[in-house]
Amino acid sequence: MTAPLIAIYGAYGHTGRLVAAELLARGQDLLLAGRDPRALDALATELDAPGRVRTRTAPLDDTAALHEITRDARVIVHCAGPFSRTGDPVAAAAVAGGCHYIDHAVESHHVKHLFDAYQAPARGADITMIPGLSFYGGLGDLLASAVTTGLTALDRVVVGYAVSGWRLTTGAKDTAAQLFAETDRITFSDGAHHIGYVEPGNAVFAFPPPLGPRTVIAPFPSCDIVTIPRHVPARNVDLRLTAATFEEPRVFDSEDIDAADRARTDFTVAVQAVGEPGTPGAHGHATGRDLWRAGALASVEAAVRIAAGDGPAKTGVLSTAEAFPAGPFLRDLERLGAFTLTLPDGPPRER
Ligand SMILES: NC(=O)c1ccc[n+]([C@@H]2O[C@H](COP(=O)([O-])OP(=O)(O)OC[C@H]3O[C@@H](n4cnc5c(N)ncnc54)[C@H](OP(=O)(O)O)[C@@H]3O)[C@@H](O)[C@H]2O)c1
Repeated sequence: MTAPLIAIYGAYGHTGRLVAAELLARGQDLLLAGRDPRALDALATELDAPGRVRTRTAPLDDTAALHEITRDARVIVHCAGPFSRTGDPVAAAAVAGGCHYIDHAVESHHVKHLFDAYQAPARGADITMIPGLSFYGGLGDLLASAVTTGLTALDRVVVGYAVSGWRLTTGAKDTAAQLFAETDRITFSDGAHHIGYVEPGNAVFAFPPPLGPRTVIAPFPSCDIVTIPRHVPARNVDLRLTAATFEEPRVFDSEDIDAADRARTDFTVAVQAVGEPGTPGAHGHATGRDLWRAGALASVEAAVRIAAGDGPAKTGVLSTAEAFPAGPFLRDLERLGAFTLTLPDGPPRER
């Protein structure tokens, strides 16, 4: 019997490379995919794992080529963005080929679209689709779930991302440009999602020491605004990102720096859960270096579990924390070196 194949779309981008290297290190056989055959071959040579790595060229408008990938692979990890442009063709191919789907999107509208348009098709195809399984989005979703386990009456959950040293790749820069220009923001207040213009502003979020209170962008338009309310019982959800993240030199002109320089990011992702009057709240956080690797490790952990038949019990489109028990999943990522966790004390957690 041959091992299940895991496909990576956008394999030769920065995120795709990290995912490929980590999957190989974890013993998986790979199908590297994307639109540039020479870049795919160069990556396969570089990975130097004869017999374990195949390539398949598939531009996004080549439906037949995309379907060949999703027919052959058990899981596809979609790493080519902006996902507002690349998401639909790969998601549709996953359904057509009966292939589980994971992506690295940060974009809230893309993630909402997958929940709205792909829920029934994914269930019909007996697959799991987990969008936004990365650093931004996935980590907030998991932490919000882990921190609020056992709490049933929350007024507000705030997720604060503190990031320094972020040097944007081409894909991240294109994505950021789209998000900056976006006027239709998805927000969650008074128990419901709203879509409309929200003037970007600043607020102050109290990160745990040694960071302390920092000026943050509010709202930060990341896809955990779509996913957290699916499983956390809060009336309001807010996302924040440190304003200083985009004020550092070289954030936007670092497309050509090497992978080692790009790895020099520091991050803290903190969750504050505020209880309804008279009920408890909670807080917790994850702190680490190299947000790119943290995101890649998260998607790889999910892909490996699904390929091994250890995926979510449910099919359909799921958030990361709906797909996997958040506490144990985060602890596994901590053991892999993705970050260090501080979670509320308490009995063993199911979420
Ligand atoms: N949520 C998070 O925390 C998180 C973390 C990491 C990455 N991301 C997202 O993941 C995406 C990739 O990031 P990255 O850092 O890996 O960027 P990157 O290094 O610039 O790589 C982008 C990849 O996407 C491919 N691509 C872009 N447009 C394409 C299209 N129309 N058709 C086929 N392939 C296309 C590129 O191929 P070509 O070279 O052929 O254009 C390349 O392989 C971005 O959207 C980024 O925002 C999110």
